[in-house]
Amino acid sequence: MQQSELDFINTLRQSSRYIEQHRGKTCVIYLPGRFLLSRDSVTQFSQDVGLLYNLGLKIVLVMGASPQLDHAFSEAKIDWRLHHQFRITPTELIPLFQQTIGLLRSQLEATFSQANCQQPNPPTLVSGNWVIAQPKGVIEGIDFQHTGKLRKIRHQSISDCLDSGQVALLTPIAYSLTGEVFNLNTLEQACEIASAIEADKLMIYGSPQQLKDLPKQLSIPQLNRIMSRPANNEQARLLTQVSHTNNKVKRVHLMDQDNPSALLLELFSRDGSGTLIFSDRYHQLRDASIEDVGGILGLIEPLEQDGILVKRSRERMELEIDNFIVIERDQLIIGCAALYLNDDNMAELACLAVHPQYQGQELGSELLKAIEVKATENGANKLFLLTTHTHHWFIEHGFNLANVSVLPDKKQSLYNYQRQSKVLVKTL
Ligand SMILES: CC(C)(COP(=O)(O)OP(=O)(O)OC[C@H]1O[C@@H](n2cnc3c(N)ncnc32)[C@H](O)[C@@H]1OP(=O)(O)O)[C@@H](O)C(=O)NCCC(=O)NCCS
Repeated sequence: MQQSELDFINTLRQSSRYIEQHRGKTCVIYLPGRFLLSRDSVTQFSQDVGLLYNLGLKIVLVMGASPQLDHAFSEAKIDWRLHHQFRITPTELIPLFQQTIGLLRSQLEATFSQANCQQPNPPTLVSGNWVIAQPKGVIEGIDFQHTGKLRKIRHQSISDCLDSGQVALLTPIAYSLTGEVFNLNTLEQACEIASAIEADKLMIYGSPQQLKDLPKQLSIPQLNRIMSRPANNEQARLLTQVSHTNNKVKRVHLMDQDNPSALLLELFSRDGSGTLIFSDRYHQLRDASIEDVGGILGLIEPLEQDGILVKRSRERMELEIDNFIVIERDQLIIGCAALYLNDDNMAELACLAVHPQYQGQELGSELLKAIEVKATENGANKLFLLTTHTHHWFIEHGFNLANVSVLPDKKQSLYNYQRQSKVLVKTL
């Protein structure tokens, strides 16, 4: 078999678990106007959305149009006025505004039709008056006129549209209950809609400025820390919008708008391509079961080879699996630890390990905490361990160096004086 065929099969195997995981999930995707400037990116994106649709995802698209509006108005030799980064939309500009957005929407629909013509079940794009707008109003003496803000979302109608097998498309155009046309910020719309329909995912294409120096994953506390010292104003605005969704949308993905493959990479590879902001527990800490033996062995084998952990055979691991807890992420074991209870209230912690790619995210501390809770629940008042490489880490986590003589008798008799492990003890 050729290498390219092997690569293909391996990739398919690795991504297949996500297919079931994403089926039936709702995903709101924000497309900034800049993304829509590249015809190739839009074609690729349309095909990918067709694929997601056929894999059972329910999709809402929210499209921006800033560069297209800038272009249309500069062609017409009209200056947009801005106040606090927001456009002021006077009544006389509304026809050109509607025309520009209408054209852009029509181009997107055309690309969708072409890109999905090979699909057995091509998605249909549907727009509607789902968003009710109200005037932004007069701020600091400046009347924003037809620049609006979101008043209400007919979220049930959007959900009904998705349930009936269509892809919902929203644009900057929204209407008030008095029938006036308003120009709405689409990033804000995307965040609000994702919250209103309690989407499983909000996926946002961002600019290099907005994504500057963001790590691959952010919990909500980490997001708040970055928001207190953002890289630039654009990033601050994006993260502020996103932070408003955190109770309703479990996962927000920030993707590079210049990478047309970002959407599929983000959804079908373990580590994605951009930044994931999660408000749920992205990983799961739980008791190990016999099915985890292979995963734990895979995690600790390199550490055994380096002499950091004592070698355990598969048979021993199978016998002792009830002593283990694991952290699982997307069906991969990325952390483990074991607890051995003794008769004399002194419990042993062993085999603490975190996958190298996930170290430094306090998973080790989380495992240690869980072991301490388990030990206390089982009546232990001291936790000890033997380590050759990691005593500083344990000292920083409340352990003290101790003499071999403090160990339970059975453990003392098994102590390997050649290995010269350090003994650490913590009072619980
Ligand atoms: C020790 C270990 C479990 C920590 O996991 P983790 O999820 O990275 O832990 P945390 O995120 O809570 O802590 C990370 C910090 O510990 C530090 N650290 C990691 N290994 C260390 C060591 N051997 N000695 C001292 N500090 C260490 C890191 O530098 C980091 O410090 P920083 O926050 O100042 O950058 C992980 O490094 C590991 O699996 N090591 C190999 C296996 C091992 O030694 N197990 C213990 C034997 S029982």
